[in-house]
Amino acid sequence: MARAIGLDFGTTNSAIAVVDGGGAPRLGTFDWSGGETPTFRSILYFEKDEDERIASVAGPAAIDRYLAADDPGRLVQSLKSFLPSRDFVTTSVFGDAWRLEALIGRLLMRLREGAEARLGPLDGPIVVGRPVRFAGAKSAEDEEYALSRLRAAYWNGGFGDVVFEYEPVAAAYFYEQSLDHDELVLIADFGGGTSDFSLVRVGPGREKGGDAQPILGTAGVGVAGDAFDGKIVRHVVAPELGQRGEHRSIFGRVLLMPEWIFAHLERWHHLSFLKTPKTLQILHDLRREAVEPEKLDALIHLVRNDLGLALYRAVERTKVELSSRHESRFVFQNGPAAIDVEIYRGDFMTWIWDEVQQIEACLDGLLEECGTEPADIDAVFLTGGSSFVPAVRGLFLERFGVEKLHAGDELTSVAGGLALRAAEL
Ligand SMILES: Nc1ncnc2c1ncn2[C@@H]1O[C@H](COP(=O)(O)OP(=O)(O)OP(=O)(O)O)[C@@H](O)[C@H]1O
Ligand SMILES: [Mg+2]
Repeated sequence: MARAIGLDFGTTNSAIAVVDGGGAPRLGTFDWSGGETPTFRSILYFEKDEDERIASVAGPAAIDRYLAADDPGRLVQSLKSFLPSRDFVTTSVFGDAWRLEALIGRLLMRLREGAEARLGPLDGPIVVGRPVRFAGAKSAEDEEYALSRLRAAYWNGGFGDVVFEYEPVAAAYFYEQSLDHDELVLIADFGGGTSDFSLVRVGPGREKGGDAQPILGTAGVGVAGDAFDGKIVRHVVAPELGQRGEHRSIFGRVLLMPEWIFAHLERWHHLSFLKTPKTLQILHDLRREAVEPEKLDALIHLVRNDLGLALYRAVERTKVELSSRHESRFVFQNGPAAIDVEIYRGDFMTWIWDEVQQIEACLDGLLEECGTEPADIDAVFLTGGSSFVPAVRGLFLERFGVEKLHAGDELTSVAGGLALRAAEL
């Protein structure tokens, strides 16, 4: 039997798995800080060597390289979030215009090379993931556009003929491995860019193969971990960078800082867009008139040195800590940017309340559409990194009770399920 491959290109993390001749999926692993990891950070990094040749690294190695560089090159991340955006066609990397499909293609190519170093050739049938709704897509046309760009990216990455599967459906096939009886299961996958649901009947009795339809419904919303990070930036970081600060206009009036600057700051894949001569000029002009110029110095330092990765690592650390503790200290020290703030889980829960409500509405919509009551559902499988957030988990505890909740393999279940699906097809 041929080798079957599953590839989950995620907003934050990607993973790849193979099924050789039936059986359980095996994960690809990648070099990382002297060890290895099955999660391939969805980050692409370009640097120039001494001969001015441009090289690219992706995944966990990209972060290591970026952090070790004296004069860091260009880092791109959260690329999946741009797929439906018609504003993002190309971006400049050391003066060359790169299309989004080429950037993602390069990342996928590096992922493949890394995985092949340990797993051997990856040339069997392949099933790849897609969110139910792409983050930021506003219409069916946007969805189509995003999907066609993702298909082109796989092509560019050296994966010819890919079959798409909804990510939360793949997670259902992964969960199914643990069953010795049939169940109606609700899958909830909370990632970096999207929260996705599926309602699927799985178990040993499921008819396997291409045409079988065990899926009762799917739903998704473009709100997940990146949006939670954005709220920490809004409430903790932005005020320290002059967001609520005033500056005096030439006419002597007191004005507030322009909001668009902070809107970019809140979405970490947009932060690097601020590093343009025009924006830096605006920031310098604002600094001259600012009531608290030291806060603008910190903001300019952050933008000019492209410190998005460092900032968001600090934000993520705090968010992750608040999943297991009731308080955390947000610390970010870099040149004139020095932020040290105590955060309580209760505050964080208030900040992300709107997002949690959107997730809840999406879940309710799916149950209603399928005519399913919580009592009809045998089990709930929570997966994806953002499923650790207590406010998210709380939605399910309340509705389904602790006995029905299952969780696990948060960062790799989708890839495993995709490989199982590829083996089935
Ligand atoms: N313990 C934790 N507590 C809170 N958030 C966490 C935790 N661990 C990981 N995360 C968050 O989970 C997200 C990444 O999850 P995951 O790898 O499942 O997403 P993804 O598959 O890349 O994204 P998507 O499926 O939306 O494309 C990030 O936002 C990360 O900060
Ligand atoms: Mg995911």
